[in-house]
Amino acid sequence: MANFFDDKISERLGGASFGKSTAIYKFEIIKRAKAAAKKAHPGLDLIDMGVGEPDWPADELVVNVLSEEAGKPENRWYADNGIPEFQEAAAGYLEKVYGLSGLIPAEHIIHGIGSKPVLALLPICFINPGDILLTTVPGYPVTATYTKYLGGEVFNLPLLESNSFLPDLNLVPQPVLKKAKLLYLNYPNNPTGAVATPEFFKQVVDFAKRNNIIVIHDSAYGALTYDGYKPLSFLSVEGAMDVGLEVHSLSKAFNMTGWRIGFVCGNSKAVKAYASVKDNTDSGQFRAIQKAAIQGLNHTEITDRTVIKYSRRFNLLVDALKELGFDARKPKGAFYCYVKAPTGTENGKVFNSASEFSEFLIHESLISTVPWDDAGKFIRFSVTFEADTKQKEVEVINEMKERIKGLKLKF
Ligand SMILES: Cc1ncc(COP(=O)(O)O)c(C=O)c1O
Repeated sequence: MANFFDDKISERLGGASFGKSTAIYKFEIIKRAKAAAKKAHPGLDLIDMGVGEPDWPADELVVNVLSEEAGKPENRWYADNGIPEFQEAAAGYLEKVYGLSGLIPAEHIIHGIGSKPVLALLPICFINPGDILLTTVPGYPVTATYTKYLGGEVFNLPLLESNSFLPDLNLVPQPVLKKAKLLYLNYPNNPTGAVATPEFFKQVVDFAKRNNIIVIHDSAYGALTYDGYKPLSFLSVEGAMDVGLEVHSLSKAFNMTGWRIGFVCGNSKAVKAYASVKDNTDSGQFRAIQKAAIQGLNHTEITDRTVIKYSRRFNLLVDALKELGFDARKPKGAFYCYVKAPTGTENGKVFNSASEFSEFLIHESLISTVPWDDAGKFIRFSVTFEADTKQKEVEVINEMKERIKGLKLKF
């Protein structure tokens, strides 16, 4: 039946063909496969290794501040571009965790309602129709989506194991470089778990200066690092403040995904542009949440505890995956283990893509993962699975191992 809106949807959303595509989005396929598998195996618990958020809730220290602050009359107002105390706490946090000094909170830092909206608003600051965003794939797509909404174009840089899942900036063709305006990077990386090196970031600054390209570094997983790798800020590299911005989040490092709080830090003119777009978009995060977030930023031991847990789980997961035949390595950052999908099973089943394998894994053994087919066939296991004790963690991994063993995978 015709709908009044049929001819009114914007071209950026597909115009008249909006909502008519039969293609199903990856996460919807996973959701449907999970529902079908639960029906097919009513006695079996789902082992969910696909989750992109922490299993722990926010720390009590943070929750208590929200409870105290939520009802205070002085916190009720529109928070606009944020309270200065949050900017100051964020600067202190960046100095403590990343060794960044000399930041002027009021000039270099502004909060965001999570880092996702920051990544959505930044292209509005910089992209004109025809400008190109260089982005990494597989990856978090928000900056690319907004670039396209704005009439910009997107050039994908594949993240390959052969280059430690760092993009090879030499691969960008000259005509693309000429039109490129933004480079989006994310380390520690979702989904590969790869981390950047100071040398790589130096190359990025050099590349940005030579080609007149702005760098947006998404540091949503910044403080979640393992085995001696120290959190590394893009802004710690000489010259980075001239060319770039870094986006931080409390979602992952402080177990606060639903709270919606993060911030952007970097070049003062760029931060001002963000502030201007933000001011015309939202009215800021609730002051009580900003105050609770300050408590988090002042208590980095919250992140330390989370890092210990994820590191322990990675050890269990990586050992189990290796025993099963996967080429698994413990990542240095984030909470994802990114492994090549098997080619098929000894019973003759062939997987033409990581998505096919991921669906098979849900259907056959009620284990959920996230597949990535953008640059090779890979699946992502998260260590944020539900397990409230160390013993339970071992049990979950053992159960996962037993179920996968039964599938007789071929690599
Ligand atoms: C790479 C990356 N960036 C940004 C985000 C957004 O995080 P938030 O908006 O909760 O800060 C996510 C969330 O999964 C992510 O994986």
